[in-house]
Amino acid sequence: MGRRGKPSAPGALLFISHLDDPAAWKRELTSRIPGLGYRVGPGLTDADDVEVALVWAPPPGELKRYPNLKAILSLGAGVDHILNDPELPRGVPIARLVDPMLTRLMSEYVLLAALRHHREFDVFERHQRRRLWEYRFPPDAARRRVGVMGLGVLGADAAAKLAANGFAVQGWSRRPKRIAGARTYHGPRQLERFLNATDVLVCLLPLTPATRGLLDRRVFAALPKGAFLVNPSRGALLVDDDLIEALDSGHLAGATLDVFHREPLPRDHPFWRHPKVLVTPHIAAAGYPETAAPQVAENVRRALAGRPLLHPVDPEAGY
Ligand code: NAP
Ligand code: GLV
Repeated sequence: MGRRGKPSAPGALLFISHLDDPAAWKRELTSRIPGLGYRVGPGLTDADDVEVALVWAPPPGELKRYPNLKAILSLGAGVDHILNDPELPRGVPIARLVDPMLTRLMSEYVLLAALRHHREFDVFERHQRRRLWEYRFPPDAARRRVGVMGLGVLGADAAAKLAANGFAVQGWSRRPKRIAGARTYHGPRQLERFLNATDVLVCLLPLTPATRGLLDRRVFAALPKGAFLVNPSRGALLVDDDLIEALDSGHLAGATLDVFHREPLPRDHPFWRHPKVLVTPHIAAAGYPETAAPQVAENVRRALAGRPLLHPVDPEAGY
C-alpha cells in the first residue's frame, strides 16, 4: 500500500529537468519498461501514481508532493541539487547517475584543461594578444604532478587517463583507494602532503557539508608556487576571493573553472575578466539518455520491485 493507498495504475515515472530532453528519456525508458507511466513535472495535480522520480534540480518542496515515491534518481552524477531541498521526503532512497558517456566527457575536459596549462596554451593565448613570439621549450609531462581530489567514478577515470598521457598522477579521497598508475592519499591528515606535491589540482569531489568551501587559501598556500586549479566539481567548493588572491599574488598560475556559486555566472563577477581564469559554462560533462538509460531503467525496475538501487547515495555523507 502507498502512503495514500495503493496506486490504481502501474507505477509512473515523474521527469523533472530544465536541461534534459523529456521526450528522449521517455523513448529510452518506456521502450525498456513496457507499461511504465511517464509524467513530466513539476507541479502535477494528481500525483498518487508516481513511484519513481528522475530529476535534475527539482524545485524545493516538489518531491514531497508524491506520496507513493519509492526512489529518486538523479539526472546527474552529483546529488546536491536533490539533497539541498529542506523538505526532501525522508527515507526515500536516492541514486546517482553513472553514465559511461558522462564519464568519458569529464575525463576529456580534465585532460584538455591539464594539457592546456601544462603545454602553456594559456600563456601563448596571452602572448598572441600582444603579437609576442617567445620560444619556450616544451615541458615534460612526467615532471608535471597532477593531483585529483575525489577518486570516485569520475576522478578514478580521469586519473587513469591523465596517467596514460604521461602525467605524474596522484589522488586524494575520503577512504583509502588504489588507482593503477597513481599514488593515493586519503583523509584530512594526508591532504597537505598531497597538495605539497601537486602542480595541477583537479577537483572532482561532490558538494557535501565536508567539502563546501574546501578550496580555500589554506589549500592554495599548500600547493607549490606556479600551480594550477581545474574545478569541474561544484562552485560552492571554491572560495572565489581566495582563488583571486592566490592568482593575483602570483602563487597560482591559472585556473579552469566550469562550475560556480551562482549559475549563470553573474556578468559582473571578476572571473569573467581575470586574465588567468578560463570560464566554461558548466559543460564539462552531461548525462545522455542513449548511454545512461540502461542503468536508469534498471534502477526504475528495482525501485518498482522494492529492491536496492544501483549507485545509492548516503544522505548522511551527502554523496
Ligand atoms: P563519486 O563516484 O561519488 O565520487 C566521489 C569521490 O569524492 C569519492 O572518491 C569520495 O571518496 C570522494 N570524497 C567525498 N567526500 C570527500 C571528502 N570529504 N574528502 C575526501 N574525499 C571525498 O562521484 P563522481 O561520480 O565521481 O562525481 C563527482 C562530482 O563531479 C559530482 O558530485 C558532481 O558534483 C561533479 N560533476 C560535475 C559535472 C560537470 O559537468 N561539471 C558533471 C558530472 C559531475 P571515497 O572514494 O572515499 O568515498
Ligand atoms: C553535472 O553537473 C552532474 O552532476 O552530472
